[in-house]
Amino acid sequence: MAARLSLAILLVVLAVAGRAAAQDYDFFYLVLQWPGSYCDTKQSCCYPKSGKPAADFGIHGLWPNRDDGSYPQNCDPDAAFNPSKVSDLLSSLRAKWPTLACPTNDGLRFWGHEWEKHGTCAENIFDEHSYFQTAISLRDQLRVLDALAAGGVNPDGGYYTLSQIKNAIRQGTGVEPFVECNRDESGNSQLYQLYFCVNASGDGFMQCPVSPGARACGNRIEFPAF
Ligand SMILES: *[C@@H]1O[C@H](CO)[C@@H](O)[C@H](O)[C@H]1NC(C)=O
Repeated sequence: MAARLSLAILLVVLAVAGRAAAQDYDFFYLVLQWPGSYCDTKQSCCYPKSGKPAADFGIHGLWPNRDDGSYPQNCDPDAAFNPSKVSDLLSSLRAKWPTLACPTNDGLRFWGHEWEKHGTCAENIFDEHSYFQTAISLRDQLRVLDALAAGGVNPDGGYYTLSQIKNAIRQGTGVEPFVECNRDESGNSQLYQLYFCVNASGDGFMQCPVSPGARACGNRIEFPAF
């Protein structure tokens, strides 16, 4: 009787664990952010405690998403962000996943938010460490700033067309991102975030199945310096 009861409990535990780790998404958005455009707004920004980040694209997040445009979030309340699990990645995170939120801080809140809201929805393939490591390695593979430079698109405060930006990135990386713009203090549209799509196993770029719900650009896009 007791054995049967513990078997029943075990099966319930396995079912709950299995559900928590089930894949409830079809692909990922890897979202990269241009720090110059984050800061060049009415709201401005705050450099992190580690100092002004490099003038390069930083990571915003790696977000599981569904083909219909919806996405799961906050999937595992038991997997609170634990900085000690990524202690070997902290210097890479500071360099490649910098926070620009105010007030000035060490980035732990930003990384914790990304893991808890998005990362926990891909626990079928990632733990906290591999989530951050994978996003960093995907970002490094793209070398977006080099791709843009090769296409003559540089963060010099100049203006570019959407096709100049997309063509340069497609030629340099093999994939075309969705380009999101925000507005500078004078209301000009500027290159803010790039959404690349990554397949469900988290190790291959793909063409995006659906556009994100993000602000599209006009055809005159500023690329501010940082
Ligand atoms: C994702 O892409 C990688 C590399 O191209 C490939 O090995 C893997 O099978 C792909 N996974 C899916 C689910 O398509």
